[in-house]
Amino acid sequence: MSDPLHDELLGLALDIARDAGTMLRERRPADLSVAATKTSPIDVVTEMDIAAEELITSYLRKHRPEDGFLGEEGADVEGSSGVRWVIDPIDGTVNYLYDLPSWSVSIAAEYRGETVVGVVAAPMREEVYHAVLGGGAHRNGVPVRCRPAPPLSQALVGTGFGYLAERRAAQAEVVRALLPRVRDIRRGGSAAIDLCDVACGRLDAYYERGLNPWDMAAGDLIAREAGALTGGRPGLTPSTELTVAASPEVFGVLQPLLEELGAWHD
Ligand code: IPD
Repeated sequence: MSDPLHDELLGLALDIARDAGTMLRERRPADLSVAATKTSPIDVVTEMDIAAEELITSYLRKHRPEDGFLGEEGADVEGSSGVRWVIDPIDGTVNYLYDLPSWSVSIAAEYRGETVVGVVAAPMREEVYHAVLGGGAHRNGVPVRCRPAPPLSQALVGTGFGYLAERRAAQAEVVRALLPRVRDIRRGGSAAIDLCDVACGRLDAYYERGLNPWDMAAGDLIAREAGALTGGRPGLTPSTELTVAASPEVFGVLQPLLEELGAWHD
């Protein structure tokens, strides 16, 4: 049975994710440059990340003034309605900077701390993924399911790397050990798209250490609603320490292997 609050939040998230995606695709300056850096000189922000976050938050604030916000580019408001929006205006900013197509707009709505709606718009793919808690996952409105699991040796695994050299050195060690044991590894550059790719069977699994809530909130719900399992270290939920998402059988093998390989620490 559909919940009127969830329906309202989904409608708003779909509308503004599409609008922000169109704005980002159509108004990307040919000479786009770095506006600022964050955790390291290669962790970049462009003027378009800032413009898109402003577009998204002002739209949502107009429709739901009592809600809270957490956005990659600084939105941080508590709110009083029990709803908090978790927003990544461009997930895959480095791809966007280089005009590579794998970037997305990621918007999740939490109610009382639980993610109830997730929307990921991938404008260059002309795809919008969405999920509502308990309502399944969809791509362009069509239900999707994660892939029937192969053995780990035939699994296509996505991952990503942080922006700090020390963390990357540790992540490279994990890849060195994992690569000979799987079909192959992909580094797409947008965690939100990676999670949606698990949801719709384009990846068997995805893992990464160091994600922020805005990178994973929407994609995590979409992957779970598509039948994937998601988690962090064994027994834990996905977090900045470690995020793992996979078809159930692959998850059962990959999560303990990542624990053994130390994918959760630098
Ligand atoms: C990044 C992307 C990338 C992942 C990084 C994230 P951003 O998000 O999701 O795939 O590997 O860890 O920070 O910075 O482009 O929003």
